[in-house]
This record gives sequence, structure tokens and C-alpha cells, in this order.
Amino acid sequence: MARVLVVGSGGREHTLTTFLEQSAEVDAVYTAPGNAGTPGNVPIDVMGEGGFGELMRFAAKQHIDLTVVGPEAPLCAGLVDAFQREGLAIFGPSRAAAALEADKAYARDFMRRHGIPSPEFQVFAELSAARRYVDGLPVGPVVVKAAGLAAGKGAIVCENRKQAEEALERMMGQRIFGAAGDTVVIEEYMEGEEASILALCDGEKALYLPSSQDHKRVLDGDQGPNTGGMGAYAPAPVVTLDVQDIVDRRIVQPTLAGLAAVGAPYRGCLYVGLMIRDGQPRVVEYNCRFGDPEIQAVLPLLRSDFFSLLRAGASGDLGSLEARCAEGAACCVVMASGGYPDKYEKGKEIRGLEVAESLEGVYVFHAGTRRDEQGRVFTSGGRVLGVTGTGATIRQAIEAAYRGVEKIEFEACQFRRDIGYRALRSGAI
Ligand code: GLY
Repeated sequence: MARVLVVGSGGREHTLTTFLEQSAEVDAVYTAPGNAGTPGNVPIDVMGEGGFGELMRFAAKQHIDLTVVGPEAPLCAGLVDAFQREGLAIFGPSRAAAALEADKAYARDFMRRHGIPSPEFQVFAELSAARRYVDGLPVGPVVVKAAGLAAGKGAIVCENRKQAEEALERMMGQRIFGAAGDTVVIEEYMEGEEASILALCDGEKALYLPSSQDHKRVLDGDQGPNTGGMGAYAPAPVVTLDVQDIVDRRIVQPTLAGLAAVGAPYRGCLYVGLMIRDGQPRVVEYNCRFGDPEIQAVLPLLRSDFFSLLRAGASGDLGSLEARCAEGAACCVVMASGGYPDKYEKGKEIRGLEVAESLEGVYVFHAGTRRDEQGRVFTSGGRVLGVTGTGATIRQAIEAAYRGVEKIEFEACQFRRDIGYRALRSGAI
């Protein structure tokens, strides 16, 4: 029997622990630092001073058989490399492979070199040169991206040159993202429908989890500011079998081969954000981790043993394993604190969790939550819960998710009421 450690504290990590705990091969799951929903919480801040060492000592002392890393920051900072140097098994890409997310300029250059479908772009390390380039662009939307990690806020869609100049001034002049914005990527704006692909990789081979679609804006109808994600559903009808085939042949396989060729084989979850138009996918971004909230809609559909897949991916040998999935659909609705993604209050008591969890086909994944000594649960972050419904069809999954949401309450709670609308509009029932 195996002992597993999950690193992180969000909805993604509660989802990972839930499905690792269900494995017949796992008998103990720990989470560092975790939230009110996760098992075996260990108060280690991996990105704090000495965090890597503390985590490795814990993994060694507790005879952890596999550590699974949730967030990008420790991956991009080399946590996997540190564990491997100590001979500790860990699922996630090395620092060199995680550069696909850590450095957007490198990632775009990598795509160009490997002929991976992606937008036109230019990279700038000087504000004056970036301004001159924007001045010469045709009128119309353009994307300005901080090249470094900016907590998911670093890509700005600019409607015109004036907005692009403002974005450059904020990133490179005022340095609102610090060093992450010292280099920027200016990209062609892509029209189409977005989707997310999560692939479990062993350095050579990729096993695909069901496709999914996130809802990044805070308000219904994709209005308001961007967030970490307000809900997701899986599978995404826009990812047809033909699209999936193109993704495999023209995006994921060349990505794995290109990284292996430079001695940085990708072992971990490769997240490819796509823009799809007329059946042709192009890469919006790579992430070096499971998507959140996407994973909250994806894992409830997996029927293969999740732990076995991660252990095999980590050791570079997915071999003949398959990622078998259920026929149906799943939908995750994020319940957030009022005011998110801007200022919000914490410490609101959450009620109705047990009732929601007891509903048929409903999962409640904790994100920004904490538990007090009496066992009461309070809000402690922007995104508080992900309520996932499953069903034979996307419509049934959406209905199940909202049945769960209805049972839960906390002061100033906000959530979108239209998660899954594109799937319904596409005719998928
Ligand atoms: N759902 C977007 C992300 O995980 O980055």
C-alpha cells in the first residue's frame, strides 16, 4: 500500500486527494498545507524559506511513496529536481520542462521552432521598442503578456493600440508584476472558442484526460474581470475527435519530442490551453500542472486508477496503461467570496456542506476554506468551493452541480449561473 503527499491548498489539490484516496493502492494521503477539505494536513509552506527542505524531510520521514505537486510556483522553482536529487518519487515536470509555463517568451519560441500551431508574436525586453512595435500595428485587438509567472493575471487582451500602450506601461514601466513583466510577449489576438487539454505524460507518451472548458470571467455571459476560473465542464464538445487528433499529432507529440531532445523530458500533467476556430486548434498557453477548476470536472469522469497513472508517469513508464473514462459529463461551479477577484472579506461561516455532499452525483471540493476547533468551516480565500455535478449528459451534470450549490450558503457568496452554456448552445444535451 502506498503513502501519498499532495502539495498545495486549493480546489485542485482537494480534487487530487479525493481521487488518490479512492485508489485501492493508497492507504494514506497527506496535504501540505491543504484546506478544510483535504486529508492529513501538514503545515508546510513549500514556497516559504526552507520550504523545499522541510517538505523533503517530511516525505522521507513519513515514507511517502509519491509526492504530487499542484501549483506552478514550486514546479517552476525546481521542487521536482530537488526531490529527484534525494531519490524521492514525485509527479510533476522538472524546472527545465516547467519553463513552458514559467517563461512565455521561451514557450512561444519553442512552439515556433517545432511548428506547433500558435499565433504570431514578438518578444520585447525594452519598453521603448515594445511601444514602437505597438505603434506600427494595425488597429484592432492584440494580446500583451508578461513573460514570467503573474498568478494567472499576466495576459491582457487589448482592444486597441492605446490599451496596449497602457498595458506595456503598467507591466514594463510600473512593474505591476515585478520581474515577471520585464520581458513581454505581444501576440496576435485569436478568435474562436477556448478549451483545455490535460495530458498525463511520462516523458515520451501522453494519456489524455477528458477535454474541458473553463469560464474565466467573473460574471455570467463572460463579462467582468478575469479570475482564476469560475467553473468548468467536461468533456468539451468543441474538442471533436478531429481536434483531439490534431492536438495529439501537431501539439502534444512535438512538445514531448522537443523537450526530450534537449534533455528535459516532460513527466507530469501537461495542460494545453487551446483556441479553436473552424476545427483548427492553436495554442493559447502551456501550463505545467493540472488546471483548476478544470480538474474538478475532469477527475470525476476518470475510471482508471489515478494513483497508478501518476506513479507510472513519475517513473517515466506509462507503458500500456490507459486513462479509461466514463461516458457521461461533469460540471463544476465555483462559489467565490463577494468582491472576488478584487478585494473580498474572509471568515464567513459556510453552511450546508454535508447536505450538498450527500446529494447523488455531487462532489464538494474545498478551495479557500479553513476549519475551527469546533469543526465549523469558514471562508479564507477568493475561490471558496467547487461544486461538481455528474450525469449522463452535460445538462444533467449542470443541473446536479446547481442542486449542490443551492444547498450551500455563506455571506456575500457569488457564483456564475451559466456554467456550461457553450456546451448547451452547441447542441450537446
Ligand atoms: N483554469 C486555468 C488554470 O488553471 O490556469
